[in-house]
Amino acid sequence: MQVLRTVAEVRAWRKQENVRNEDVGFVPTMGCLHEGHASLIQQSIKDNKFTVVSIFVNPSQFAPTEDLDKYPRTLDADKKLLEELGVDAVFVPQPKDLYPRGIPLDVSKQVGPFISVLGLSEKLEGKTRPNFFRGVATVVGKLFNIVQPTKAYFGQKDFQQFVVLQNMVKELFFDLELVMMPITRSATSGLALSSRNKYLCEESLEIAANIYKGLKDGAQLIIKNQATEGVTRDDVLDAIQSRWIPYYQTGDFKLDYISIADVETLDEVETLSNKSQDIVISCAVYVRDRLDLKTTVRLIDNVLVPGC
Ligand code: PAJ
Repeated sequence: MQVLRTVAEVRAWRKQENVRNEDVGFVPTMGCLHEGHASLIQQSIKDNKFTVVSIFVNPSQFAPTEDLDKYPRTLDADKKLLEELGVDAVFVPQPKDLYPRGIPLDVSKQVGPFISVLGLSEKLEGKTRPNFFRGVATVVGKLFNIVQPTKAYFGQKDFQQFVVLQNMVKELFFDLELVMMPITRSATSGLALSSRNKYLCEESLEIAANIYKGLKDGAQLIIKNQATEGVTRDDVLDAIQSRWIPYYQTGDFKLDYISIADVETLDEVETLSNKSQDIVISCAVYVRDRLDLKTTVRLIDNVLVPGC
């Protein structure tokens, strides 16, 4: 596996005689790799002659209050896993390679080109993280221009991220295909795998698994009633939260949002009467660590409810 550190090195790799006309699959990551990342990489290896993975903790998608400095960095273990999976090249840039003029956390001081996908970025996650998708779209756009992949792989775990990037690719005419892979979950608890799970103790991880259990209850309620007169949005919200209420009471959970939205527009669905509509139920929940009460982790998850 080649370790590429600069933009010039990636370009030189991509232009090699045996690579330039081949299919190149690309998996952008922030490292601290787990089985969720591995599932994307394995699919890319199946689909393409070559696979490139990037590892870059992208400063422009973090707010000043978030965990940029603390974000887990496990480069040696990551490289070992990528080698075992059979990845051809890993791109590990430094911030100055992607942002030559630096990237102050204070947005008002940032300079340079950015990509904004207006309309989609302000919803759901964007309400709590106003500049997040501008940072994601910008870095992914830069990486696409550097790596020039034919396909790029993303997880359903970050569903809104996929919708935003799909819109960027389509309307900025990036010449590649995006592939969305299902959420990889803990085999025992169903908790969606996330690099941020590292911040939580075992007991809090068990509690966090109720996030998915609640979402699943909500989805099942919609599916069960699809054939009949349907359920109300409030019924679904109640079904989801009945799993979570005990943990609100103990202080283990604090709700950021629950959304029941159209999969394409991400507009909230107020009446669940359109049975052919594809819906995504998504949420963000702050989970407090039981061992270290000062640590709170914001976890996201979602389930898709296809229309019938
Ligand atoms: P990161 O959180 O490292 O995730 C990299 C990719 O792995 C994303 O497409 C994400 O959706 C996917 N992923 C994470 N957990 C997953 C799981 N449990 N199952 C399936 N896929 C999972 O997302 C980012 O990095 C960044 O925003 C990035 C796109 C790299 C831009 O900086």
